[in-house]
Amino acid sequence: MNNINLQDDNEVLRFIKTENAEEMATLFEAAAALRSEYYQNDVYFRGLIEFSNYCKNDCYYCGIRRSNANAERYRLSSEQILQCCQMGEVLGYKTFVLQSGEDPYWTDDKIVETVRAIREKFPASAITLSLGEKSRESYQKYFDAGVNRYLLRHETANDEHYQKLHPASMSLAHRKECLFNLKEIGFQVGAGFMVGSPYQTPEHLLEDLRFIEKLQPHMVGIGPFIPQADTPFKDCSQGSLEQTLRMVALTRLLLPKALIPATTALGTINPEGREKALKAGANVIMPNLSPKAVRKLYALYDNKICTGEEAAECRVCVEGRIRRAGFVPSLSRGDFIDMQTTTQTALGSAPAQVAIDGAGAPSKTMHLRCEECQDSQAERAKVPEAVCG
Ligand code: 5AD
Ligand code: FES
Repeated sequence: MNNINLQDDNEVLRFIKTENAEEMATLFEAAAALRSEYYQNDVYFRGLIEFSNYCKNDCYYCGIRRSNANAERYRLSSEQILQCCQMGEVLGYKTFVLQSGEDPYWTDDKIVETVRAIREKFPASAITLSLGEKSRESYQKYFDAGVNRYLLRHETANDEHYQKLHPASMSLAHRKECLFNLKEIGFQVGAGFMVGSPYQTPEHLLEDLRFIEKLQPHMVGIGPFIPQADTPFKDCSQGSLEQTLRMVALTRLLLPKALIPATTALGTINPEGREKALKAGANVIMPNLSPKAVRKLYALYDNKICTGEEAAECRVCVEGRIRRAGFVPSLSRGDFIDMQTTTQTALGSAPAQVAIDGAGAPSKTMHLRCEECQDSQAERAKVPEAVCG
């Protein structure tokens, strides 16, 4: 079990840095065991809708920063977002995550109107927003409209490091204030950070852990930094798989009940990255629900996976991967364990076959339960990693 003294900075630092295979295995096993105590081997699905890549911010690491003149900008309409949710509903998702850059077009009124429409059409679903830094009043409006969760990664908890990753107009203090406001309002809150971002030291990562210990977020998104060709950090090296996994595991040990995604960025730097994250304590997966036509444009970093797949293909692929890795895909809302409002639903209780049609969706009938579609699973296993992530 877990013999790591988590209060001892030196010991935690040693685990942040360790390259020793045995030590890493111990760490991952302890984290996975702790995850299982609260969430068994369930992996919760969230349908991700990236609805605008316009952004007024200029973070040095990000491919959709406003100074990137090469970024082809797009914005989905409210109707298109609802169509994505409809597709998600057909695929069985009970959580929709609406993510965008900080796009001034999407005023609070427009967000609230869209959220209300989703809430009305999909009353049983959780709604998550990830729109960046807003005023407390704005967050309150979203909450009152029916939003349940909000994701805002702090990116790094060290002030000096934060300044090296962001223009002077942005501050870590403000980001932290946003996170504490979100918690006070009553959202399930997701913080998070990149691993291996330029200028980052192991001590910074220790600060990230100490910060999440203090904030006690319900979710923590952890992914490797990956350079994007049109950013000032284009020549920097990417974060390492192992260090990212160690941070996932340490986060699990510090926050046993947290919902921790196996991030797309991890799947991008390693074909098995997301499965490895699950084995190191993660328990959430966020397949992409955005229309295929715009997926490549939400290019935060280079070589992002799942940009060539239809939502249904991604769903089947992710589900197969999770099962093959020994986990149980779950289509319940996947609320934080102390804030659960509905009973858990294992994926096995989803309809065996779902006819998928409607805007942008495949018109054929697809088998979505992998017990029912061994052939398609076998076919999937043959798909080259580069195609399927
Ligand atoms: N590499 C990895 N992650 C990135 N993000 C933005 N740019 C990059 C990059 N180059 C992450 C940030 C942000 C989230 C939406 O995507 O952590 O919060
Ligand atoms: Fe999305 Fe494989 S996970 S296509």
